[in-house]
Amino acid sequence: MANTLTVTDNRTGKSYEIPISYGTYPEYGASIPTADLRQIRASEEDFGLLGYDPAFKNTASCKSAITHIDGERGILRYRGYPIEELAESAGFLEVAYLVTHGELPTADELEAWTHEITYHTYVHESIKKFTEGFHYDAHPMGMLVSTVAALSTFYPEARDIADPEVRRRQIVRLIAKMPTLAAFAYRHSKGLPYVYPDNDLAYAADFLTMMFKMTEVKYEPNPVVERALDVLFILHVDHEQNCSANAMRSVGSSRVDPYSATAAACAALYGPLHGGANEAVVRMLGDIGDPKNIPDYLERVKKGEVKLMGFGHRVYKNYDPRAKVIKKLAYEVFDEVGKNPLIDIAVELEKRALDDDYFVERRLYPNVDFYSGLIYQSMNLPMDMFPVLFAIGRTVGWLAQWEEMLTDPEQKIARPRQVYLGHDKRTYEPLSARE
Ligand code: ACO
Repeated sequence: MANTLTVTDNRTGKSYEIPISYGTYPEYGASIPTADLRQIRASEEDFGLLGYDPAFKNTASCKSAITHIDGERGILRYRGYPIEELAESAGFLEVAYLVTHGELPTADELEAWTHEITYHTYVHESIKKFTEGFHYDAHPMGMLVSTVAALSTFYPEARDIADPEVRRRQIVRLIAKMPTLAAFAYRHSKGLPYVYPDNDLAYAADFLTMMFKMTEVKYEPNPVVERALDVLFILHVDHEQNCSANAMRSVGSSRVDPYSATAAACAALYGPLHGGANEAVVRMLGDIGDPKNIPDYLERVKKGEVKLMGFGHRVYKNYDPRAKVIKKLAYEVFDEVGKNPLIDIAVELEKRALDDDYFVERRLYPNVDFYSGLIYQSMNLPMDMFPVLFAIGRTVGWLAQWEEMLTDPEQKIARPRQVYLGHDKRTYEPLSARE
């Protein structure tokens, strides 16, 4: 079998042979280098054939070895390790090491990495002043986007992105400082004094302390809540070429510093089509209000009046493996802090939807957002903090994607082509001559 594609241009009758290459896994399909289409021309002056693919629905923008998704079978793996096993047995910083370094750490490596991250959690005092400048009701995600970008001005060395040691230092700083920036944004919105990081605490416990410590000498987070948050961070670490990872790669391809690129990725996550669906699920469950109203709600979904939020996914045509882990986690948290009454509506809604032909035929299953908002709500986290929590975990994935892009010799500054539909050349008329 020849691994080539023969294309005949019916305008000219000419045939071209284009190589087909395969990734490691059949579910990712085969690909052709679309640059090879440029040789296909109708005339000498012709620019050559382009691929037209708005929203990259069928275009691979990179070769990556970080995250493996098989949407048909509901599989998600980081560096080859199934998400269920990592969520069950690993800690967030262990997974962060795996995703950024490619291998699981040894005990010594994990200890050194944890120490390094822990000792970089402080932010410059001026960042505090910066946060104070925001209006009292500023959205915490807006504050996060801005403060992450501001970090670049504190670390001018970060611009030296060609130096692997400089890159590594910024990766450590960003993973370490995101929870501090996130907690400062929350405390500001509540009008509460900022709580500084505590180097005696593990990553999730430190974040919970910076969020919720009041007058007590030592805030002691509930260990089940702490572990649940750690797992939620793990589940959000990476999801291959999603909108924010693509923003990170695209902005980073200009060789800007990683703080500015991460701010761009955060901004992409801020959008309701990306990081905001878990909030929409909580609002939807509140609107349904009672399990007895579910049939009516599902009828409205089927008529196209509303969407079943937290259901469906561009890639997963099976149960999102992260949703399975989160559903189990929700009950563990509720056993500790009290049941979120919306869970009964969520479980019944899921059951009825999965029994309904409309959802079965369209292969619509719960996604990561269906249960995560309920857990966050039970942890007393306000809805506008939900995407911020997503950003803390996802920073690890963004940085791994960024470094992979920078070290890939095939990558260049991202610069898509366009199909131009505007005016042909026009002559400028002075203002006085215009009607
Ligand atoms: N409720 C009702 N119907 C749905 C839903 C839903 N949640 N999702 C898809 N459908 C229907 C569509 O109406 C369409 O039906 P049709 O064939 O009769 O026209 C069919 O299923 C296919 O859906 P598409 O919109 O083509 O699927 P797409 O891949 O473009 O969208 C998306 C995926 C955006 C996630 C969609 O399922 C959705 O809007 N879900 C609700 C929002 C949500 O939960 N987003 C979080 C995603 S996970 C994340 O980003 C972290």
